[in-house]
Amino acid sequence: MQRRAILKLIGTSALALTAGLATPASAQEVFKLGLILPMTGPSATTGRQIDAAVKLFQAQNGDTAGGKKIQVIVKDDGGVADQTKRLAQDLIVNEKVGALAGFGLTPLALATAPLSTQAKVPQIVMAAATATITEASPFIVRTSFTLPQATVPMAEWAAANGMKKVVTLVTDYGPGIDAEKAFTATFTGKGGTVENLRVPLANPDFSPFLQKAADAKPDALFVFVPSGFGAQFMKQFTERGLDKSGIKLIGTGDVTDDDLLNGMGDVALGVITSHHYSAAHDSPENKAFVTAFKAANGGMRPNFMAVGGYDGMQALYAGLKATNGQGGEALVNAMKGLAWTSPRGAVSIDPQTRDIINPISIRKVEKVGGELYNVEFTTLPAVKDPVKAAKAQ
Ligand code: PHB
Repeated sequence: MQRRAILKLIGTSALALTAGLATPASAQEVFKLGLILPMTGPSATTGRQIDAAVKLFQAQNGDTAGGKKIQVIVKDDGGVADQTKRLAQDLIVNEKVGALAGFGLTPLALATAPLSTQAKVPQIVMAAATATITEASPFIVRTSFTLPQATVPMAEWAAANGMKKVVTLVTDYGPGIDAEKAFTATFTGKGGTVENLRVPLANPDFSPFLQKAADAKPDALFVFVPSGFGAQFMKQFTERGLDKSGIKLIGTGDVTDDDLLNGMGDVALGVITSHHYSAAHDSPENKAFVTAFKAANGGMRPNFMAVGGYDGMQALYAGLKATNGQGGEALVNAMKGLAWTSPRGAVSIDPQTRDIINPISIRKVEKVGGELYNVEFTTLPAVKDPVKAAKAQ
């Protein structure tokens, strides 16, 4: 028995030794990041923004962290969940990535969550924003935001500013339903009335829903559409004559996304939204970020997706530094509680939920220097995801 145990021990250490020797030192020093993004399809703006932000972060901060060379491998999932899952599997098994990142839409993050758990590979969600995502795997850390986090301040503002009746119009999937529920609960809790409309995610035609909204004659229309869909929404809003109906347009900042805002034209002027990032955010960190981002990308203005990507890299680099380049559970633990100054303001990773805690501002679309911007006029600091905050109580 004893002899067998000793032999087993020798066998194990011999194996460990061979494994150690078999890996060349240079290969050990590389940490691969699998960055899965929608570079094509209706959410391609999200992929383009995050890819550019990750490149900018590495150009500014170098390509090493915690003694490892960070090699970013970008894969295009076209915004299709089956593709995301297949690419994640391939990156884990064949590329042996130390972490996965990106995730342009909620279903893409959720499809990958079980793989991250199984393989113990951290998953940095830079874009998707349904509240429950971080509950799908203990390996998920999120640097985007959550829809309830952005929506509750909008509902509070609407109630405090004389609005009594609101129609909500949201894209019919995770983040839209989160926005609808958060708005409705907060606004009705303050005595308002709400009517809910949902529009399909695939090839949306907003016109019939806009007609219904107009017929209800509310004080305001609250809208959530995912980043990339705002221009089409605004076009149909104008075509249906809602811009002249006296119905105020409010929403989360996804609809007046900085990437598309300037192209929407003056119809967007006066739209009030709540969000965690505006390219017009007045801070030295943001001014430097916007200037560098534009310079590196032919004048393209960064939107909130870019900031989710930039902050995701910040969390990864700081986490790797803290673990001396170790991945897995140690990296996730090291990212919990991190705090830094982002282009969006002071942020931290909630150690309990692994969600980002950040300021939320109420903004109004205005013309600044001949261009349309979301100009922030009220800011709440350190806003947590209210869904998980309520569960924790
Ligand atoms: C999401 O699918 O979670 C999502 C996508 C785009 C947004 C917000 C949320 O602007």
